[in-house]
Amino acid sequence: MVAFLDVAGMSRWVAETGVERVLTELVSRMRSDFRRWPEFERAPRVASHSPIGVIELMPTSDGTTYGFKYVNGHPSNPAHGLQTVTAFGVLADVASGYPVFLAEMTLLTALRTAATSAMVAKALARPGSRTMGMIGSGSQSEFQALAFRGALGIDTLRVWDTDPAAMEKFRRNIEPYGFDVTICGSAEEATDGADVITTCTADKANADVLTDDMVGPGVHINAIGGDCPGKTELDLAILRRSTVFVEHEPQTRIEGEIQQMPADFPVTEVWQVLTGATPGRRSATEVTLFDSVGFAIEDFTALRHANAATRGTSYVRDLDLIADPADPKDLFQLLAPAVAQRATA
Ligand SMILES: NC(=O)c1ccc[n+]([C@@H]2O[C@H](COP(=O)([O-])OP(=O)(O)OC[C@H]3O[C@@H](n4cnc5c(N)ncnc54)[C@H](O)[C@@H]3O)[C@@H](O)[C@H]2O)c1
Repeated sequence: MVAFLDVAGMSRWVAETGVERVLTELVSRMRSDFRRWPEFERAPRVASHSPIGVIELMPTSDGTTYGFKYVNGHPSNPAHGLQTVTAFGVLADVASGYPVFLAEMTLLTALRTAATSAMVAKALARPGSRTMGMIGSGSQSEFQALAFRGALGIDTLRVWDTDPAAMEKFRRNIEPYGFDVTICGSAEEATDGADVITTCTADKANADVLTDDMVGPGVHINAIGGDCPGKTELDLAILRRSTVFVEHEPQTRIEGEIQQMPADFPVTEVWQVLTGATPGRRSATEVTLFDSVGFAIEDFTALRHANAATRGTSYVRDLDLIADPADPKDLFQLLAPAVAQRATA
């Protein structure tokens, strides 16, 4: 049997454990896995593009456990009552090849993206950062805010979204957690005085949701919405004056903000900062930029954490996913009961 964590189970696990606790635990696991980065299989994800979106498969393995995520990105979905991003994922035992865990990953992707962003910001943002400017207040936004408070102590949020209803939704969801929230009238206003700027918009375009004049000295930029060919968020002038950090360089060259830069544009993979092999921020005035696209190892980490935390609990149930005949060579025997029943009917 395969353990199955569905949307209801995932929601209950996160709510009953506490979303901030889950995020903090995920940040810790994420850091451990990033620090053993060379042990993982690493390849750009397999993407199937259409004019309005993308469907992607994201596999990796550490030699003991294999994992993959199925995920889509369709920025026009909310206009039809659907999520921009939905996902599910699987863990399998490398020794037998058998799947062991299947989970919804729409919620889990929001958690793992926020945990990754916060882990990176903890390593790169100026110590003492308290104020985050947020451009885009859709599905990812509350998770980002909570993860940044856990990792950095961010408690003041300045938010801008082109959809006023999305900003009101954000305020309604996040104010009960004790943040100081300001709804702004523009991206300029949202980024005014920010120590950290998070861009998490969805638009299949080379947009300039953040322009160079909005980025003060010493700011850390957490850019998560530019994650597909032809889908970026930042003014190129920002890239030219920032120190840029990425997950897996070959994938980010295809999908990230740096798709717009020459192939030799310098970047640093985050795992190298986390192991101490490369310095992160070098001065209080440097602008650091995490050009995030989301990488398979983050999903692997999130799946392993969810599996470990929910195994044997009422959050999961058994799924009869693998044919398991008594004689492994007699798969045909599995048809026998139904064949016999049909014959007597
Ligand atoms: N890097 C990663 O690992 C990662 C993971 C998950 C999602 N994403 C990406 O993050 C983005 C946000 O995802 P989501 O699930 O929150 O999407 P969503 O559709 O729920 O929210 C996006 C929000 O952006 C707003 N928006 C669009 N254009 C804007 C603009 N120019 N200025 C201000 N606001 C604007 C929309 O009104 C909407 O509220 C998507 O592009 C998604 O692909 C990246």
